[in-house]
Amino acid sequence: MHLSKVEEEMLSGGSGKATEKAMQLLVALGDVLGAPRLIPIVSAQIAGVSYGNIGDAGMELLEDWASQGAKTQVKATLNPAGMDLDRWKEMGVDEEYHAKQLRIIKAFEMMGVQATCTCTPYLVGNKPRRGSHIAWSESSAICYANSVLGAMTNREGGPSALAAALTGRTPYYGLHLKDNRKPTIVVDVKARLCTTYDFSLLGYTVGGIIGSGIPIFRGIGHPDSDRMKIMSAALAASGGIAMFHVEGVTGEAEGFDFNSVERVCIGQKELEASREKLTSEGDPDFVCIGCPHCSLEEMKDLARMVKGKSVGRGKALWILTSRGIYKRSKEKGYAGVIEKAGGKIFVDTCMVVCPLEKAGYKHMASNSCKAVHYVPSTSRIKASVMELSSALEKMMEAGQ
Ligand code: F3S
Repeated sequence: MHLSKVEEEMLSGGSGKATEKAMQLLVALGDVLGAPRLIPIVSAQIAGVSYGNIGDAGMELLEDWASQGAKTQVKATLNPAGMDLDRWKEMGVDEEYHAKQLRIIKAFEMMGVQATCTCTPYLVGNKPRRGSHIAWSESSAICYANSVLGAMTNREGGPSALAAALTGRTPYYGLHLKDNRKPTIVVDVKARLCTTYDFSLLGYTVGGIIGSGIPIFRGIGHPDSDRMKIMSAALAASGGIAMFHVEGVTGEAEGFDFNSVERVCIGQKELEASREKLTSEGDPDFVCIGCPHCSLEEMKDLARMVKGKSVGRGKALWILTSRGIYKRSKEKGYAGVIEKAGGKIFVDTCMVVCPLEKAGYKHMASNSCKAVHYVPSTSRIKASVMELSSALEKMMEAGQ
């Protein structure tokens, strides 16, 4: 791989030991993946933040790099951590986990990474422009960035996204090349899509059927940002999808010849099969919303749905979002309504990377297929996917 003088210098340790290691990682990756060179990026989104996921070894590596003076060269934001950094006790997190999670956050901050701790960085200030090159990890954010924002990123892992942040560069291959961003399969949708949950089911179904490639959807109208957000997460959970197009909406597939690639048809039957696959026996005792993290609009809807009700005895309602959206929800009064109804709004974390089993609930319901896909293996509790209104009906009682 060709390297510029500045890059050669980074590789030979001229910018410090940690940057040298970061550059070694990028060069090794670029060589394996056939990248001719590196390209500059404008932002990085770094996953691998939860202590539960990276453990002592990951924490010590981050501390090592931070102590060597590593500094980010571009805007860099963090994925969810393993707990709400303030209200961790309410989540059942123990002291040791808490202390180690804080060490991880501190190491990232020392390197200049913003501790946003959200999988929706584009809702809190890390929103790259169309056509810009970025290095993001977090599969849902990657899919949203490529498809909806029109920014260009491969599916990075936590270490390669951090290395990209520290050097300001990423290998030039894959979805950084316009030719590789064209649709590879047409998805004709003949199903009823009325809610955000329906779009999650659609993404999960398509991801499972096609596995990889770049689908172009027809027949799904003009989904809003929240619907494309939850669909991005589901596509990337059941399949390795890093990008999609929606006819007449997402912009990069204008003039595309729909007869040039194979096609698949998705109907109500296929969505129903996904719903069944993601349904466990018994009644849920716990609803968890916010995979990906809730937007302000979703907080508003939720407040409308729970207003005047209260969470039933032995039940729980958790809502996950970013600090930025929580603050705005409080200002608008949405958070107050949800909390008055007994809902708990947690920030900085997600149901898949926090030790959910420690909260003591046995069966989670969520409107997100991604959450339900992962939670049984990450927390060993049951999970069922459900329309949001049905899930709330099971949790809430009249009156407050
Ligand atoms: Fe976000 Fe966690 Fe879901 S990172 S997309 S809330 S699994």
